[in-house]
Amino acid sequence: MDRLKIDGGVPLTGEIAISGAKNAALPLMAAGLVTDGTLRLTNVPDLVDTRSMEVLLSNHGLAVERDDDVVTMSGDVTNVDAPYDLVRKMRASILVLGPLLARHGQARVSLPGGCAIGTRPVDLHIRAMQALGAIVELADGYIQARAPDGLTGARVVFPMVSVGATENALIAASLAKGTSELVNVAREPEISDLAECLIAMGARISGHGTDTIIVEGVDRLGDATHAVIPDRIEAGTFAIAALITGGDLTLTRAQPRHLDSLLDILRDTGASITAGEDNMRVVANGVTKAADITTDPFPGFPTDLQAQFMALMCLADGSSRISETVFENRFMHVPELTRMGADIQVDGGVAMVRGRPALTPAPVMATDLRASVSLVLAALATEGTTEVSRIYHLDRGYADLELKLGQCGARMERVGG
Ligand code: UD1
Repeated sequence: MDRLKIDGGVPLTGEIAISGAKNAALPLMAAGLVTDGTLRLTNVPDLVDTRSMEVLLSNHGLAVERDDDVVTMSGDVTNVDAPYDLVRKMRASILVLGPLLARHGQARVSLPGGCAIGTRPVDLHIRAMQALGAIVELADGYIQARAPDGLTGARVVFPMVSVGATENALIAASLAKGTSELVNVAREPEISDLAECLIAMGARISGHGTDTIIVEGVDRLGDATHAVIPDRIEAGTFAIAALITGGDLTLTRAQPRHLDSLLDILRDTGASITAGEDNMRVVANGVTKAADITTDPFPGFPTDLQAQFMALMCLADGSSRISETVFENRFMHVPELTRMGADIQVDGGVAMVRGRPALTPAPVMATDLRASVSLVLAALATEGTTEVSRIYHLDRGYADLELKLGQCGARMERVGG
């Protein structure tokens, strides 16, 4: 198993181009299952997760071609089964449920297994499909769903905000008969990106970006070319990398307006941030002041940046209160940061972090995607050599991490065994 050896203590300086968003690319690729024509996506990041989605779509019968960051999907669905072996590798595989049902009247999708960051059920996805008229049974570890006469537009009220369930419902409603009103939906930029792509394919959608989306179902969806939005979580991670190392990074091909909640807090900690339309410069200004955060659905502070922000707070001046409200048990990075000398007390969904002047190198283990990058950030800020093991988690979400950070002065090396 690969490890990352990081020799920290170097301020990162330079320029990094942000890749396409993983969390936008995955639902957009799943939308390839509903077109009668060809869906061509550009700016698709080359990650383990997007590769897994390519395999899943090929398993359903689509012709999937990748040329650098362009992924083209066409052809007919020949198989509506998403087997356990593919789904267990990537929870976002559940995103094929809505498209398969809407276009092919049936789907058999393995229930995703347990997950390190909480139980993460799929009940909201299932309830949305049922509201649109599907008959759903759970048997043998599979969600078996049928809509032999197609789905029917309906008012779907989500009891809590779910990004994935919103995406499934949005794609499914696009091909349902009649009008759907999706209420209390997620407002993440990735939802709007999906809606824009579906509109380019011929869907009739309005209200995306607000908490109510209206979809007038159409009979068919056709060809489209669509560029995936920049990855706001990658950009946010690198912004924190600049600050935690006392550096100065310019992030290009980014969309700072998707990161307001993070950038506001980083300014409170003392950072200088200049944000343009599609780039931003993040400069550390000496001491980082402690600040409190609470994670929330967009436009709140993203749960996917909570671990990285915590790493920064471990080295801040003062105490920080970090509340996680989106996922239960999303503090897997805490014991690892503690191994590096961080002072963190967890009580339920709240972590109290008392900043220290420095951390110390220690062998640490990645537990999930964002937890692992928080350890990389802590290591980059720490004099001496830190080894982060189980870095396969990183490859699910960060394209060319060592290359991008290495060009800005980071000393990090992947070692096997
Ligand atoms: C997506 C993102 C993930 C991010 C999360 C929250 C992708 C591929 N992944 O995950 O990186 O951390 O949004 O911003 O886009 N829930 C239920 N029942 C359901 C579905 C969700 O109870 O059927 C709960 C979850 O356990 C969680 C909360 O709802 O507590 C939010 O989850 P959700 O927004 O669905 O996250 P994902 O779409 O899985």
